Amino acid sequence: MLIHSPLKRPTHAGADAPNQTSLQSSLHPSLQSPLQASLQTSLQTEFSAEVDGVIPWHYPQVKTPIHRLYELAKAGQWNAGTDVPWEQDGKTTLFPSSDEGNPLLGFADYDRLPEAERRRLSWWQHRLEIAELLHGEQAAMLIASQLVSSLPTVEAKLFASSQVADEARHVEFFSRYLHESGGEIPAPSSALMTLIHDCVEEPRWDMKFIACQILIESLAMARFQELRQHTRVPVLRFAIDYILRDEARHVRFGVEFLRGHLATLDEAALEERSRFVLDNVLRLANSLNVYNRIGLAKGWDLAELRRHLRRYRLQHPELNRQRFRQLTLNMDAVGLLTAAGRARLERMNLLG
Ligand SMILES: [Fe+2]
Ligand SMILES: [Fe+2]
Repeated sequence: MLIHSPLKRPTHAGADAPNQTSLQSSLHPSLQSPLQASLQTSLQTEFSAEVDGVIPWHYPQVKTPIHRLYELAKAGQWNAGTDVPWEQDGKTTLFPSSDEGNPLLGFADYDRLPEAERRRLSWWQHRLEIAELLHGEQAAMLIASQLVSSLPTVEAKLFASSQVADEARHVEFFSRYLHESGGEIPAPSSALMTLIHDCVEEPRWDMKFIACQILIESLAMARFQELRQHTRVPVLRFAIDYILRDEARHVRFGVEFLRGHLATLDEAALEERSRFVLDNVLRLANSLNVYNRIGLAKGWDLAELRRHLRRYRLQHPELNRQRFRQLTLNMDAVGLLTAAGRARLERMNLLG
């Protein structure tokens, strides 16, 4: 059984872990055996977290920016079951995304495949990418629920409670979307699984908050914008518009609340938090990515595939900058873009 034992960091158990079972569990359902599919459904990670918090007994009437965000959250509720056109899933005839932005184009082993096979691979690639977003949404829901207890003011607790409901809706949408577009949901990559596990066990509320509102939300916003631009699936485009509105509120809340809190920390504490964000960005960027997972399953020459992807990145330097722009802006807005952090991002060529 692929169940992690309690209190152990799940460093090698993601869908990209280097063993045959977990590799197979990441395959498109049509490539999985029934046994592999049943193993996939039993995958879970246990965690243990002590939550420290405060119970404020005063309820200020003063209207702050966080009160206003809470009002926007109440007015912006939508129903993932009934407010999106589920019948427009586009899965039978279309590629899920436009060619623009597909780094596999131009790779000889991919280009020589018949169109039907390229379409099948595109859907698998799409499902792997959406599954990473889904697992990130569940992480945001769990962390936001812990923040309801830990955050120090009533207004912040009210907003965090609205965020729990928002993230639940996002989990509902993406999990239903993946089920309706074809079978078992791929497990998260090892890097994402480790990050999520560490964040839910992290005892310091501000580290949790930074991980959720700055790191996970900023990277997710960039991915949603990219998906919105390239998707050919109407129901996805429709839901992403709703989801982006929710996420923009969450990011705004994080920036509003953290800016004041981080201004009270000394330089060493700020540096630690800045390093924490950038270490995790690097870990996610270096994790075995979706294209490698496809290359492995197809038996392609992985060194050649990596060379092709490196060339693609060099030809499109703006892509990575767009992906990380929101993150660097938000780090800057809350005071986490320290001189050392900025220099590190410059070395990674991620400052746009
Ligand atoms: Fe979300
Ligand atoms: Fe969010």
